[in-house]
Amino acid sequence: MRSFDRQKVPLPKLSSLNFNEGPLIVEIGAGVGLHPISYSQQFPDHQVLAIERTRSKFERFQRRLENHPQIKNCIALHEDAISVITHLIGNNQVDKYFILYPNPYPKKNDQNKRFYAMPFMEEILRTLKSDGEIILATNDLQYKQECIEFFQRVWKLELKEQSLATQGRTHFEKKYLSRNESCYNLIFTRKSTFGSA
Ligand SMILES: C[S@@+](CC[C@H](N)C(=O)[O-])C[C@H]1O[C@@H](n2cnc3c(N)ncnc32)[C@H](O)[C@@H]1O
Repeated sequence: MRSFDRQKVPLPKLSSLNFNEGPLIVEIGAGVGLHPISYSQQFPDHQVLAIERTRSKFERFQRRLENHPQIKNCIALHEDAISVITHLIGNNQVDKYFILYPNPYPKKNDQNKRFYAMPFMEEILRTLKSDGEIILATNDLQYKQECIEFFQRVWKLELKEQSLATQGRTHFEKKYLSRNESCYNLIFTRKSTFGSA
């Protein structure tokens, strides 16, 4: 795989980000914002940065967030997550990444558009704390299997947990569950070095 060239990544509109104290949670492709809003409410001491690049979805997210003025720990950004993470997030800063129902790009020639196969994954690993987690959900069995294979073989991550999501955390998860589709939830961590020489 070619290595990631951060110089070629466009700068985000924002030039810096200030976070509250507490664990930093980054959601890539937050859609209309159901998950970051409920997560922020559930964990008020965490700082949630939720990034969505599609304007129409972001505007629905923003309106939803404005209806919860008590939430102070959620930053909603209309940006490309690749630009924001590459240029505005420091090394070992992120406790959890959420990538929930990314577009699976099922066409054979589109593998390089799938998150787990992108050289950009280097930036996710650079910014993830050593005990951090990447949580990825998909309803696509082939995507799930290929994701596990890539994360383990290429990115040297460990599959800590896999389960079927049942809660309807996001707009897409609700839609898939209503069609009785399986929603696979995967939690990855760095490989444990405990006991190694
Ligand atoms: C299939 S939707 C899922 C949305 C939401 N996570 C859900 O489950 O309802 C995938 C979303 O990821 C967003 N997305 C894809 N790549 C992105 C990127 N590089 N930066 C920000 N958003 C991105 C798309 O705009 C789209 O809204």
